Amino acid sequence: MKTKFRLIVLLFIALGGMAQAKKISPDLFGIFFEDINYAADGGLYAEMIQNRSFEYNPSDHYGWNAFTAWDYITKGYAYGTVSIETNQPVHKNNPHYVILNIEDAGSEGIGLRNTGFDGIVVKAGEHYNFSVFLRQLSENQIPFSIKLFDKKGKLLGESTVTTNSHDWKKYETTITATESSDSANLVLLATAKGKVAIDMVSLFPEKTFKNRQNGLRADLAQTIADLHPKFIRFPGGCLVHGDGIGNMYRWENTIGPVEQRVEQKDIWGYHQTAGLGYFEYFQFCEDIGAKPLPVLPAGVSCQNSGGTWRIGGTGQKGIPEAEMPAYIQEVLDLIEWANGPVTSTWGAKRAAAGHPDSFHLQYIGIGNEDKQTPEFRERFKQIYEAVKAKHPEITVIGTVGPAPGGEDFELGWKFARQLQVPIVDEHYYMKPEWFIANQHRYDTYDRKGPKVYVGEYASHGSTLYNALSEAAYMTSLERNGDVVQLSSYAPLLAKKGHTQWNPDLIYFSNTAVFPTVNYYVQKLFATNSGDQYIDHIIHPEKNDSLFAYSVVRETKSGDICLKFVNINNKPENVKIDISKFKGLKSTMDYTILTGKPNDQDRMESPAIVIPHTNTLKLNTASKLLIPPYSLVILRLKSSLKSKK
Ligand code: AHR
Repeated sequence: MKTKFRLIVLLFIALGGMAQAKKISPDLFGIFFEDINYAADGGLYAEMIQNRSFEYNPSDHYGWNAFTAWDYITKGYAYGTVSIETNQPVHKNNPHYVILNIEDAGSEGIGLRNTGFDGIVVKAGEHYNFSVFLRQLSENQIPFSIKLFDKKGKLLGESTVTTNSHDWKKYETTITATESSDSANLVLLATAKGKVAIDMVSLFPEKTFKNRQNGLRADLAQTIADLHPKFIRFPGGCLVHGDGIGNMYRWENTIGPVEQRVEQKDIWGYHQTAGLGYFEYFQFCEDIGAKPLPVLPAGVSCQNSGGTWRIGGTGQKGIPEAEMPAYIQEVLDLIEWANGPVTSTWGAKRAAAGHPDSFHLQYIGIGNEDKQTPEFRERFKQIYEAVKAKHPEITVIGTVGPAPGGEDFELGWKFARQLQVPIVDEHYYMKPEWFIANQHRYDTYDRKGPKVYVGEYASHGSTLYNALSEAAYMTSLERNGDVVQLSSYAPLLAKKGHTQWNPDLIYFSNTAVFPTVNYYVQKLFATNSGDQYIDHIIHPEKNDSLFAYSVVRETKSGDICLKFVNINNKPENVKIDISKFKGLKSTMDYTILTGKPNDQDRMESPAIVIPHTNTLKLNTASKLLIPPYSLVILRLKSSLKSKK
């Protein structure tokens, strides 16, 4: 109580006695991760072996099979046979494996080669953790040499493992790279006559993000962490409701030992190993201080299932009514898994995975852009009411279609109001001019109805002009931060050569990460966000939609952040009532992101439009000239220490 009183006094002093501040959401700027554009396997998930479990198949992608990304190799006059079998797998969820029959191991051996996801990247002196599941089928033990080669066949590192069990067993070793390569391949060579079953061939860099086992690619994860998102929504997108009921993303299938997870087709035309599963998502959230925001299917598949938008597929289908109680239980189980005590059934599974503490789940999304049909409504209502009854502490986020207006949007909002859903998820991918013209969209939203999560948005492009149109719009989200609770640009990641959707926030290759200008806008807003909005501070010379601004205060630090977005080709003069703030340091941070409107940094290195920060005297802030095509942020720092 004492602390609360102190904060109120500090705020009162800081605002010079004005009562103009309104509370806004402290979680406004987050991110949206979906396994699209090879964002997970071959991307953020640090596994270097493609198709490690021999589960690729033609329904993932035309022409794929269990042996995709693998070659059968014989060296030094060795000979034998290789086949794919399914009769005695490591686990029923992981049916395919290789049988290697070595008739003659020759001088160098016989085995398999994997080229990774467009080549394996290794750095000289670094360690790589290799593991494989083997089952010795012959009487004699089978020694394997495990080697990394560059594309010209030069050896870059090696190790060995030898079978010692007739049951499936995991073997592990470490390989140290002697030289760097961005196009290496991994070879497993059996060097004695005999027969052996092989599955789950895996290679991870020792240096993953925060050195996590089964972890994330460090450079990509760090680029995401640098956004300082307040939350992470995962795992999709359309990936959540899936291409048909059988393809829905079922969270329970993605936890536990990786060799037991259920792999499946990715709706974006490739394969999900689920190696990056719910445990890893929650752990990543915790590692970077973001709240987890899992989205679960609303019991219906994607309305575009089977390619309805092209050739007439199966469309939206609902989980049969008789199976809904079990499905609802699955949703409730997630909450217990994330937050429940270690003594609970699901809390114990979380603890067994190495996380006895709660993950502090607060938000849960139900559904993604689903068509507002009776099938959807019946199922959503059942799930929503069950969560509300058992877990009133959880905030459920509903869905209102794929567009900023139209039938699904209207019906979705009507339904959400009827059910009093706390937050609904709006999506829009529009021209930059739409974002500029719609900065007053939320000014008139009903403050008593459901709140808004702008769960997916992006303007059509990655130029500075696009980024500034988004920045202008984001000042309006701050101004309306009492009704807009959360927002996230979409999609987040895209791999060079494997991009199904443009634009994206961060592009990457196997060796480099290319943040866009839009990325820097997101980062600047998230790192200069607040929990109070303050009005009547900024007075521009002329008021038009190409000049936007906002003022927020962060209670914790006491700092005040002023943002200016100038999309005009001329500078803009502004007056700032700086005298209304008291208790500030004599200097402030001045950050600017500017360039030519068509500048874009999709795949170029180094980036050409990046923010720059200087320290300026506070008294220079009362009159400012905001350069053309710029986002300018002033961070006025509090000199009053507000203790927690
Ligand atoms: O962000 C890409 C896709 O756009 C998402 O999967 C879907 O929700 C939306 O249509």
